[in-house]
Amino acid sequence: MESQNPVISASILAADLWQLGQLVEAATEGGIDRLHVDVMDGHFVPNLALGVHSVRCLREHSQLPIEVHLMVENPDRHLAAFIEAGASLVIVHVEVAPHLHRLLTSLHECGVRAGVALNPSTPTVAVSEVLDIADQILVMTVNPGYAGQKFLPSALRKVSQLHELRTRLGHRFEIAVDGGINPETAPQARQAGADVFAAASAIFRAESVPDAVRQLREAIDSAAAHAAESATG
Ligand code: DX5
Ligand code: ZN
Repeated sequence: MESQNPVISASILAADLWQLGQLVEAATEGGIDRLHVDVMDGHFVPNLALGVHSVRCLREHSQLPIEVHLMVENPDRHLAAFIEAGASLVIVHVEVAPHLHRLLTSLHECGVRAGVALNPSTPTVAVSEVLDIADQILVMTVNPGYAGQKFLPSALRKVSQLHELRTRLGHRFEIAVDGGINPETAPQARQAGADVFAAASAIFRAESVPDAVRQLREAIDSAAAHAAESATG
């Protein structure tokens, strides 16, 4: 299985804002690779959450790359502000980006990585024409809008399809999963071909944040070992 090294991206959506700094430090100590900031506009998704200020504060205090997951209509209007605030990767939803090719290209021109997210009801064919320029395809494993929802196993089929396409066409995009990711569901996603694991509740609602990150990493690594074993028989 030609997978990339697993990446754990901690979504601060489930973190107690009163303790945010300490929680991010604890997650960093546990070995997270990135921070994931969920931005919601109350239109594309029913909820409102986070924004440019959150990214700016994290950028000021953390060395980790920051993924900004834009769950907003008209994402093109907000790119410059998030880039200026310090985003490393900006993820837009294909459902609200009719000019996706232009949008991804303009992110690259600004020097940041470009990702595309798919809702559970959106098929992989929606991104087939941008697979060569996308740095990440994010498969939503819940309907976007809230932390703490139940993982949708039906989304794994899309992870496998993307993995197969990437191998066959020789592309380099990361395959990310987001929603309901925990030590039980992450191995399933890993076996289907996911590389990036965005998780909020499993990390920030745990009793010990560093231990929760380590458990998630072990679960992902054990799935990778299993997949390698089955590949070699
Ligand atoms: C959902 C967000 C996710 C969310 C994940 O709309 O995009 O990133 O924070 O939360 P958990 O891991 O609790 O499902
Ligand atoms: Zn997200």
